[in-house]
Amino acid sequence: MQINSIEEYELAYRKSVDNPEQFWGEIAQNFQWRKPWFKVLSWNFADPEIKWFEGAKLNITENCLDRHLATDADKPAIIWEPNDPEQDSITLTYKMLHERVCRFANVLKRNGAKKGDRICIYMPMVPELAIAVLACARIGAVHSVVFGGFSAKSIADRINDAACKLVVTADGAYRGSKKIELKEVIDDALIGCSTVEKVIVLTHTRTPVSMLKGRDVWWEDEVKHVNDVCPAEEMDAEDMLFILYTSGSTGKPKGVVHTCGGYMVYAGYTFSNVFNYQPGEVYFCTADIGWITGHSYIIYGPLSQGATSVIFEGIPTYPDASRFWQIVDKHKVNSLYTAPTAIRSLMSFGDEPFANVSMDTLRVLGSVGEPINEEAWHWFDEKIGKGNCPIVDTWWQTETGGIMISPIANVTRTKPSFATLPLPGIQPCLVDENGQEIEGNGVSGNLCIKFPWPGILRTTYGDHERCRQTYFSAYPNMYFTGDGCLRDDEGYYRITGRVDDVINVSGHRIGTAEVENAINMHSGVVESAVVGFPHEVKGQGIYAFVIYPEHHSDEELTRKDILQTVTRMIGAIAKPDKIMFVSGLPKTRSGKIMRRILRKIAEGEVSNLGDTSTLLDPAVVTEIIEKAQTK
Ligand code: WT7
Repeated sequence: MQINSIEEYELAYRKSVDNPEQFWGEIAQNFQWRKPWFKVLSWNFADPEIKWFEGAKLNITENCLDRHLATDADKPAIIWEPNDPEQDSITLTYKMLHERVCRFANVLKRNGAKKGDRICIYMPMVPELAIAVLACARIGAVHSVVFGGFSAKSIADRINDAACKLVVTADGAYRGSKKIELKEVIDDALIGCSTVEKVIVLTHTRTPVSMLKGRDVWWEDEVKHVNDVCPAEEMDAEDMLFILYTSGSTGKPKGVVHTCGGYMVYAGYTFSNVFNYQPGEVYFCTADIGWITGHSYIIYGPLSQGATSVIFEGIPTYPDASRFWQIVDKHKVNSLYTAPTAIRSLMSFGDEPFANVSMDTLRVLGSVGEPINEEAWHWFDEKIGKGNCPIVDTWWQTETGGIMISPIANVTRTKPSFATLPLPGIQPCLVDENGQEIEGNGVSGNLCIKFPWPGILRTTYGDHERCRQTYFSAYPNMYFTGDGCLRDDEGYYRITGRVDDVINVSGHRIGTAEVENAINMHSGVVESAVVGFPHEVKGQGIYAFVIYPEHHSDEELTRKDILQTVTRMIGAIAKPDKIMFVSGLPKTRSGKIMRRILRKIAEGEVSNLGDTSTLLDPAVVTEIIEKAQTK
């Protein structure tokens, strides 16, 4: 199923459009099924209802673990690199990982988990996180991983939305020089969660934690009570595999649902091709498993292909800015998949971090999460790839399950800041505001996808109508991505950023409405409006305009109080970078906030505010401009 030349790509692409069922049916033969499908695809985007590999039975963990045991039992599946470089790394072979997953799957069962139950996972980047994820999949339970940076309230909202029965967590996590108390956050979250019956706690940081009788159990104790034999649950191709929450333009995060068969095929196929993965290679994705990148390209994609996947607990700048490069040398990494924000932050450290590293094992570089600017692209190419490694700028989303538009390493000619061409099976199109498709090259518009692919989301958990509304209603018979896009003269795609009210901060999606709701929770705040602005390292930063009539003399303290409120409500990742106190917000006569104007001001472009004739009170804008200029 690997594509090795541009001619092969063109052939595969043509076939995937002319005969998608035959195309994906053949790709799917590269995976292990308990029972074959009777229909490759049935779909409509109106409801939407999308089914891939209907009637087929499988378990994704048999594809990620069992099927490699005959030939690759002793091959490393996971290499874990701890936060502290002085501490030993850990290698788990496929045989060891299989044993541990089976054992922990039995722990989940022993604690009442059954097929279809939802399990929330809130853990540090340790091998046990991958083990917990795979153990859920083993028994047919649905995992909902919540990133370790979210607050107790965010966790509670997610647990309640999915009515999770179990939580798997750890005492704490390390993040550079900091310790994060995960169990304490879970304890706070669970005050408001009545569906959770058991909490399984891994010992990691040895932080003192409270353990509630009848609810909380230790991972280490539990595994002693079970054996490592756990036959995989037989799953329907369209049974739910996991839920992953993501922010949108409206207040509440959505639980994006992926199913077993299609997701597996898509994650495996795209991993194998985009990175041109060769047997025996070591692959390192620096994302957190709490995001889709970690799900698809640390766990399911690589393991389904028998690859060796590095899990790194720490951050790029601890103990110093050479950490990534040290890891590349230490574990002889061949492919490195990271984010533009990490690249930009490491660029600022100059050449010193490269003094004692060679990085000569690197063969392929990848970028994901946000547009990569040309400067960062060239630095990545020259400093890290030494001009010898293709860069795959991979565009995709939580909802797409896997990479959609990207070069194929060693196949597609790359071009700085372009995600280049759609992968086989992906039919992108650009549409204008009236929903008209824009044909031809040298054009830009809103990016939509015309035809389903196996990894497409099936629903948003508990609210199918919301899924329809968000993705399938803007343009009939198309999946709308929320991104703006340019197709250049040679048909290459460049993603220009979100066109909705979503801010991409360091590759993380943050809904402006969500941040506004959090700020408005502060007792002194009357109203707020949040927009994105260009940020040198993060890509976009968060700018909040806040009406706070009676702030006490210490404005700085009020600012900090607001940041603290946002940290409590969402998590530190959603803290505004800038807060401006204003006496009013620019609104239309019908009361709508004119974000366009605020965006311009946040970008520092006050001279050209466009049409302001519909403003209810122009004096408000004058005040904001004055404040912006005196800063
Ligand atoms: C949004 C999806 C998919 C994994 C990480 C983020 C932006 C993602 C690129 C890229 C330009 C990109 C888009 C997209 N995005 N990759 N290569 N070039 N923009 O997943 O949190 O679901 O966010 O990230 O705006 O819609 P996510």
